[in-house]
Amino acid sequence: MIYRSWLRAEGFTPEVFDGRPVIGIANSWSELTPCNVHLRTVADAVKRGVWQSGGFPLEFPTMSLGETLMRPTAMLFRNLMAMEVEELLRANPLDGVVLLSGCDKTTPAMLMAAASTDLPAIMVTGGPMLNGKFRGADVGSGTHVWRFEQELVAGRMTQEQVLAAESGMARSCGHCMTMGTASTMACMAEALGMQLPGSAAWPAADSRRYVTAQSAGQRIVQLVAEDLRPSQIMTRQAFENAIRVNAAIGGSTNAVIHLLAIAGRLGVPLRLDDFDELARPVPTLVNLMPSGRYLMEDFCYAGGLPAVMRELQDFLHNDHIGVTGRTLAETVADAECWNRDVIASLDAPLQPPGTGTAVLRGNLCPGGAVVKQSAASPHLLKHRGQALVFDSIESYHEVAEREDLPVDASTVLIVRGAGPRGYPGMPEIGNFVLPRKLLQRGVTDMVRVSDARMSGTGFGTVVLHAAPEAAVGGPLALVRSGDWIELDTPGRTLTLDVPDDELASRRAGWAPEQPPSSRGYARLYHEHVLQADRGADLDFLVGASGAEVPRHNH
Ligand code: FES
Repeated sequence: MIYRSWLRAEGFTPEVFDGRPVIGIANSWSELTPCNVHLRTVADAVKRGVWQSGGFPLEFPTMSLGETLMRPTAMLFRNLMAMEVEELLRANPLDGVVLLSGCDKTTPAMLMAAASTDLPAIMVTGGPMLNGKFRGADVGSGTHVWRFEQELVAGRMTQEQVLAAESGMARSCGHCMTMGTASTMACMAEALGMQLPGSAAWPAADSRRYVTAQSAGQRIVQLVAEDLRPSQIMTRQAFENAIRVNAAIGGSTNAVIHLLAIAGRLGVPLRLDDFDELARPVPTLVNLMPSGRYLMEDFCYAGGLPAVMRELQDFLHNDHIGVTGRTLAETVADAECWNRDVIASLDAPLQPPGTGTAVLRGNLCPGGAVVKQSAASPHLLKHRGQALVFDSIESYHEVAEREDLPVDASTVLIVRGAGPRGYPGMPEIGNFVLPRKLLQRGVTDMVRVSDARMSGTGFGTVVLHAAPEAAVGGPLALVRSGDWIELDTPGRTLTLDVPDDELASRRAGWAPEQPPSSRGYARLYHEHVLQADRGADLDFLVGASGAEVPRHNH
């Protein structure tokens, strides 16, 4: 009676307590997360499906992470959200869950939670915004922010024009409609088999977004009956599929960190180098910003992810089973591509094999670093230049507009102190805007190296995620302005041309900075966060713990 009675306060009839599966709808809706603001409507569609299939849906709020508003960076809180959702799933009497996410970090956070609890789960991402429009042309969220910012700094665009552009860029609900991190992670959820086929691409404003949500509601009830769990879906095979799909879609470098973290929760062995090795034979097929020219709405109408996965079948584990309960081969058998300009064929790809995200090694990044080749300038992928070093992004911004900045197009710009611990939270500043004097002279790209991340919507020859980061004493902390640095992307190396004994003497003089906070979550994070090459999860959250509530033995 105590369990039933209080729920009766919500006005349910007694039949809902007849033993039918209780389906949680974990909702990251928030007005502080514009990308997720329509998710309450999506939840209504999920509920229809759950009722239809004989389940009992109960929607509940989770933490939400708005990429553009949260400081110091939404990534600082991905692990907190993952932990919160995990505990909510475990503490409440749920038989299965539908996870509603959208903005960048909400998707990996929820997948990490599902991985840890291993409760039957389906994800429904909120879908991308409609294509941005400005002066008769498509503009992409994020990607054009960086472009317009460069134009503004270079004096080729006025502030009034930028204001006009921003309203045309975000003209509907939904997450970023470039192949940024949100779209990438939505595709990763689908490639892993955790959301229904085609679900990643339906625009948030398209009625079919709600059809797929209702279908997810129907399916989760069956999934509970079949006892098909995330650990049976997110297998090593699934991660291999996802990594290859990420290469084909020109996906975000953030997928590397998030997939490593999700795999860590499941005990699936996944290494940073897997991303390079698995992606090398895969060409880029999807012509979306920032690597290409189209946007998610076009991707959807061209056939979406099923069309990509059908094209990629030679590279994928086609017997993998996702939340549909069917194999990948069955799932994509009828998938068609309606526009080869948006989704290219293997025979005539957008970019040849080996142009996806490369993993670099060397004395500057013994733990690895990544560079997204498809969004870089080909002539800079092999480059030798002298370093100009900044200890923080703020110190770079202070001087970036100065005419006397000692920099030319061959300089390698280094910003450190922006890794998981250093910032904290590993912000997306790796594609920082170029010095003004070079922009005004028409330079559009330079080699930049950092321990930071880059927005999935960003572009440029930017080496990211250098590990170990400077804040824990990684070699990046030892670089000095004027040192020679060699980037050899084809050879997969990043080398600091300084003798070992000189580096040893610099190391002797290095001391870590004080932690940014002595209390609260920031302290917990600082003490336990793993490096980028291990997914930047908290060390004590690695490994699954299941759906049972832990009990003490008395
Ligand atoms: Fe939310 Fe880009 S800001 S997805």
